[in-house]
Amino acid sequence: MVWDKRMAKIAVTGKGGVGKTTIAAGLARTFGSRGYRVIALDMDPSPNLASSLSCKPAEAAAITPLVEMEDLILERTGAPPEGGGMVFKINPKVDDIPGRFGISCRDGVRLLVLGSIRTGGGGCFCPANALARRLVDHLSGTTDLLIMDMEAGVEHLGRGTTRTVEALLVIAEPTVKSVDAAGQIARLAHDLGITRIFGVVNKVTDGKGEPFLSRLATLGVSPLGIISFDPAVQQADEEGAPVYDLPGGEGIRARIGEIATALEERLGLFGKKEVRRGS
Ligand SMILES: Nc1ncnc2c1ncn2[C@@H]1O[C@H](COP(=O)(O)OP(=O)(O)OP(=O)(O)O)[C@@H](O)[C@H]1O
Ligand SMILES: [Mg+2]
Repeated sequence: MVWDKRMAKIAVTGKGGVGKTTIAAGLARTFGSRGYRVIALDMDPSPNLASSLSCKPAEAAAITPLVEMEDLILERTGAPPEGGGMVFKINPKVDDIPGRFGISCRDGVRLLVLGSIRTGGGGCFCPANALARRLVDHLSGTTDLLIMDMEAGVEHLGRGTTRTVEALLVIAEPTVKSVDAAGQIARLAHDLGITRIFGVVNKVTDGKGEPFLSRLATLGVSPLGIISFDPAVQQADEEGAPVYDLPGGEGIRARIGEIATALEERLGLFGKKEVRRGS
């Protein structure tokens, strides 16, 4: 697919618990503070991106994932979220949804919580996912960066929302198992035609990240960087506070900033930043 670089959709993926949400939030906030228009999409069936983005607590608490909004899905597609065997519209109206259901968070980031519908262990080609897919397409025309915090594993790759991304960021922990799982995601993504697949090794201790980054490279993942295990991240989690706003959060902020810069370079986003800053 031809990519004109006016915007980029970046999906953050990986096995459960590797740090997808922490990193997706950090990237969204970094890019937001650099002047990009950023929309963060929470695509996890158990969404929790709002707290890392420091959205307004009352607004965050009131969020229902879009794919669970039965009335809205019925109104827009003509069928309930999981279809119920009914014919439904695959191109429902979505242009009012970001304004109605998006919430404003720190660093200028806007958050939309889509969630994800799974039936029988897999994704469904159903009204809820048709609405989600249509919304992602629509958002592509309205923002600079779409940062998608995906659910763990590979199922989302079959759902159409991931297929159209310009870049996939696969997160792995510094274990052979985790890196190989990242490689599996990369292989499937590659088969779907996703060409820009980048990797980050997260929670590295004792500076032992390089061999895992090299292993990622042999599995078709272009290495982007390493993030050390940072007790401040864990501590913030225990306190239920976003690490990026806490004293002690400087370290992880700086590391994510480097990953963001590497992404800017690899995706050629520099021009956009300069234009926006200069305007
Ligand atoms: N660099 C890091 N240093 C220390 N702890 C980290 C780091 N990155 C993430 N964590 C911790 O790892 C745990 C999982 O992080 P996070 O929720 O971001 O992962 P996830 O991949 O989104 O998980 P899930 O698959 O459940 O959505 C959290 O407790 C978080 O605080
Ligand atoms: Mg998560």
